[in-house]
Amino acid sequence: MFELVATKPFDGQKPGTSGLRKKVTVFQQPHYAENFIQSIFDSLEGFVGKSLVIGGDGRYYNAHVVQLAIRMAAANGFGKVIVGQGGLLSTPAASHLIRKRGAFGGIILSASHNPGGPDGDFGIKYNAGNGGPAPEKITDAIFAKTKVISTYKTLEADDIDINTVGVIKLANTEVEVVDPVADYAALMQSLFDFDAIADLFKSGFKMKFDGMGAITGPYATRIFEGIFGAAGTVMNGTPLPDFGGHHPDPNLVHAKELCDLVLSPNGPAFGAASDGDGDRNLIIGRGMYVTPSDSLAIIAANAQLAPAYSKGIAGVARSMPTSCAADLVAKKLGVPSFETPTGWKFFGNLLDAAMATVCGEESFGTGSNHVREKDGVWAVLMWLNILAKRRETVEQIVKSHWREYGRNFYTRHDYEEVDLARANGLMTRLRGSLPGLVGKGGIVKADDFSYRDPVDNSFTEGQGIRLIYDNGSRIIYRLSGTGTAGATLRVYIEKYEADAAKHAQETQSALAQLITQANGIADIEAQTGRAAPTVIT
Ligand code: G1P
Ligand code: ZN
Repeated sequence: MFELVATKPFDGQKPGTSGLRKKVTVFQQPHYAENFIQSIFDSLEGFVGKSLVIGGDGRYYNAHVVQLAIRMAAANGFGKVIVGQGGLLSTPAASHLIRKRGAFGGIILSASHNPGGPDGDFGIKYNAGNGGPAPEKITDAIFAKTKVISTYKTLEADDIDINTVGVIKLANTEVEVVDPVADYAALMQSLFDFDAIADLFKSGFKMKFDGMGAITGPYATRIFEGIFGAAGTVMNGTPLPDFGGHHPDPNLVHAKELCDLVLSPNGPAFGAASDGDGDRNLIIGRGMYVTPSDSLAIIAANAQLAPAYSKGIAGVARSMPTSCAADLVAKKLGVPSFETPTGWKFFGNLLDAAMATVCGEESFGTGSNHVREKDGVWAVLMWLNILAKRRETVEQIVKSHWREYGRNFYTRHDYEEVDLARANGLMTRLRGSLPGLVGKGGIVKADDFSYRDPVDNSFTEGQGIRLIYDNGSRIIYRLSGTGTAGATLRVYIEKYEADAAKHAQETQSALAQLITQANGIADIEAQTGRAAPTVIT
């Protein structure tokens, strides 16, 4: 029944910021997905007889790869496979399931916020036993295995029924199909004051949540509409293989339908959205967009309003390009703040060591020590908990935060699908110019960010070029590690403003001077051939 299939290595199966992401058509090549999954197993030790969690965001090709991953897990000797019903699990729910069941690890099928469908993207990611994305040590080992693979192990067996909750035997392996929402909803209930939130809705508070045709629909429907009784809250709530044509990235550009609704004067008091696999979040109030960097700072400052964090937080961690707003909160709370490279995997050690409780990235990612992934629905519930306790509007909460701490004006300009060689050229040129930049126009530091993990001492370099000014302003350049076509140049621009009289400025105009400098220093137009960014958030 076990089968050893001969195969040959594929080029370029290198996991990026978050697993292996490629076009669906690339994954559809014979043996492509199998090679990567076998390479994951080949780089792990000691899993025979143990459990593996498998699930994905339901995008096109999810159903196919779930089945082959189950067969391969069984053939490779896992004792048990825990799979979400219908092959579905949001990324944070998968992280929770791995932890709750003491699983050896998990395979998450997703390309996160990238578009889905036959012409869209697909992805495979391995998470370790702590529930978090595999550290670089493991992803490097996986990549090494993909280059030398010659066979993979599978079973000759038909697809199994994963649409019904229950236990099925596949060769010597037990396959348990679980409700993808139940454990996660119970975890949320243990963290937040669900009664206070339900009361808020009873008082007439209105909210819209955009599932963007992706994985969080069932989670949001069960929690917001089911438990809180807020009927009519969820839009685009059915996960579809092509996300209903949505680009499931919860930002002002791709969640426009929601933003138009909530940002209007008569809109609902609160709006939120999540991405393809449920780990990102967008937070908006009536007439007020909350940047992810501000959201992280506000969550850190108000976390004690939620039961699970009532004793205070141990520390705050943010990725380097995320604005420094959270650092100011940490300082006031008297707890440490950490600056890590981009990617959630760098928070894992800090969370495991209880050095940080709340973490966030400017890229619409926020989370805490409850799982080892960022968590979209968690962030929305945290905001609901804050709103329920403070009984102020989102706008009031944000503005009073700025009054107390000052405002970190912040924007990110993305240049997508730039020619790879030109993008690399821009970065190389910029790196070469760093020593000459210090001392010019108020720049006090110009470097390529590197990080030494304070827990395991591991070292990561080349994580983004930083220009830091004497007044705390920052310009950061880095190339995306999650794209699947060409290169994406990200430019992050930040300016601190203590004076509350200046907080009402529009972001792009407040940052105009720095934006011009950012474009000039990197010579973006000449180097990339692009006169303007493709996405501004
Ligand atoms: C992007 C974000 C990063 C996030 C990652 C996965 O990575 O910038 O913060 O962790 O997606 O969601 P990038 O494409 O910039 O490498
Ligand atoms: Zn995601």
